[in-house]
Amino acid sequence: MNPAPNLVLIGPMGAGKTSIGRKLAARLGLDFVDCDHRLEERTGTSVPVIFECEGEAGFRARETALIAEVMQGQGQLVATGGGAVLAEENRRRLRERGFIVYLQVSVPQQLERLARDRSRPLLAGPDKQARLEALAQQRGPVYAALADLAFDADGLAVATAADRLQALL
Ligand code: S3P
Repeated sequence: MNPAPNLVLIGPMGAGKTSIGRKLAARLGLDFVDCDHRLEERTGTSVPVIFECEGEAGFRARETALIAEVMQGQGQLVATGGGAVLAEENRRRLRERGFIVYLQVSVPQQLERLARDRSRPLLAGPDKQARLEALAQQRGPVYAALADLAFDADGLAVATAADRLQALL
């Protein structure tokens, strides 16, 4: 196991950060923290409602405060939201106390997984494909630059991805 105090999953919506992360955390004996779920627990509402009431800026402020807090801990597998890497402050905190795994996934696979999803405000409205492609262009290089390890999760079942990742860590 790598020596960083935490394992961190980054990557786009629909990459499997939550599902693979939960399984991998159980196997590695790490506490699983999903940032979006924790924000929802704290606020007592959903990510879309936070976006609606406070805008994306309000959501990002909450996300940044949460990451600062969570990354003080150790022995955790932290699944970040897809946009967490946009803030330099978050990148610094994740890097300082985390071994960072980038879960890569193709846009077609994202589309398949998110076709009927209503929990991602950034994908609301028509043409999810164009939105996902634009996000991939903007954020792909940021994920890649931040990662200690890039893992191609495209087309893999959750258990298979967790198996392969476990073998790599
Ligand atoms: C976002 C991704 C979501 C969530 C929010 C914004 C993004 O998390 O944090 O809807 O900017 O890509 P997931 O990556 O877990 O879907």
